[in-house]
Amino acid sequence: MSRILDIFTKDALDAARANNTYRSMRLMETPESSCVKIRMPNGALQEQILLASNSYLDLANVDELKQAMAQAVLEWGTGSGGARLTTGNKSPHQELEEFIAKFKGEESAITFNTGYMANVGTISALCGKNDFVFSDELNHASIIDGIRLSRAKCFIYKHNDMADLERVIKEAAGLGAVSAFRGLIVTDAVFSMDGDLANLPELLRIAKENDCLLMIDEAHATGVLGKTGRGLAEHYGCAHADVTIGTLSKAVAAEGGFVAGKQQLIDFLRNKARSFIFTTAMAPAVAAAACNNLRYIDTHPERVQNLRDNVKFFCEALQHEGVKVEQSPSVIVPIVIGDEARALEISAALQDAGILIPAIRYPTVAKGQARLRASLMATHTHEQLQTAATVIAQAVKECV
Ligand SMILES: Cc1ncc(COP(=O)(O)O)c(C=O)c1O
Repeated sequence: MSRILDIFTKDALDAARANNTYRSMRLMETPESSCVKIRMPNGALQEQILLASNSYLDLANVDELKQAMAQAVLEWGTGSGGARLTTGNKSPHQELEEFIAKFKGEESAITFNTGYMANVGTISALCGKNDFVFSDELNHASIIDGIRLSRAKCFIYKHNDMADLERVIKEAAGLGAVSAFRGLIVTDAVFSMDGDLANLPELLRIAKENDCLLMIDEAHATGVLGKTGRGLAEHYGCAHADVTIGTLSKAVAAEGGFVAGKQQLIDFLRNKARSFIFTTAMAPAVAAAACNNLRYIDTHPERVQNLRDNVKFFCEALQHEGVKVEQSPSVIVPIVIGDEARALEISAALQDAGILIPAIRYPTVAKGQARLRASLMATHTHEQLQTAATVIAQAVKECV
């Protein structure tokens, strides 16, 4: 290996191997669904109950949606051929954005190629180096990267601690000329590694009282929270944030990110968000698939209800088996192990037993907070979930 490449990469790789944070990928040889087959280290193909998917509603496998996407490929081809502002903007993109706005109850929406790009592009367009961003300490990496790119002054508040948020806003307001103060509060709606929810009613109050813009990231809330899966505002029955981010890659089971809000916000992002402007538009067939899948959620609220029922069943089954978990308000159920090596060992034992739950480690979560992150799907059967709960309890007891 070249000496220069060693200088850039070797220490980081060695350190990751030494502290059990080295990342590799498992190979799945069947489509994403509640039951999958993966290639095991010994070369065998083994069936697994999948408790790790973001495809919460299991829409990736609905026949009519697969056929609709195939039809869209036949109609629109394999790629978009240009950026949205050059030649890439096709009817499916526009239809998708109109439907997102309707689904989210907003004036307008704009799509990005990923949720990551939506966060990075939106925050860095809205904020500059003279602005203040108030960010929950457990926010997703894409929010953190957006803040870094914006060069705004960032104040991290303690996780979901509204008093601490008010404290940092007061501190920031004292730093600049009050007339020039521009502050953005930003938070995940559902925290991706803990599964708990942001306190939207309180955030709305604090944003209003302090003249801040409020942005929430509904990556794990869209299609999941609220009676019909419309997200955090539907869950609480309250007003919306000024800026709602979402992804089309999780419960919607396609790809892409979006921002929904007032027309003026969307016009601004179309003009200023660099991750929207300087990239090729998503394939029209992907936009069509995302739109079809969202319509499906709209007309099948019972799918969202099944998901909620499964979460309740699974948390109760784990508690009954003596595993320390709380009833999750979302579909993410963290089983905190602590030690990185032990979390890896338990995850491997579960995989051998046919249950796929990855160990989440630093830097995705804090050091010493390694966990099994279970996430549920609407199509898991109670039998699968009960089996998983029993096997997990056993593995947690045995791996010491
Ligand atoms: C909270 C949160 N925001 C944004 C993203 C990024 O979305 P995408 O996968 O569409 O890039 C993710 C996950 O990937 C997430 O968990």
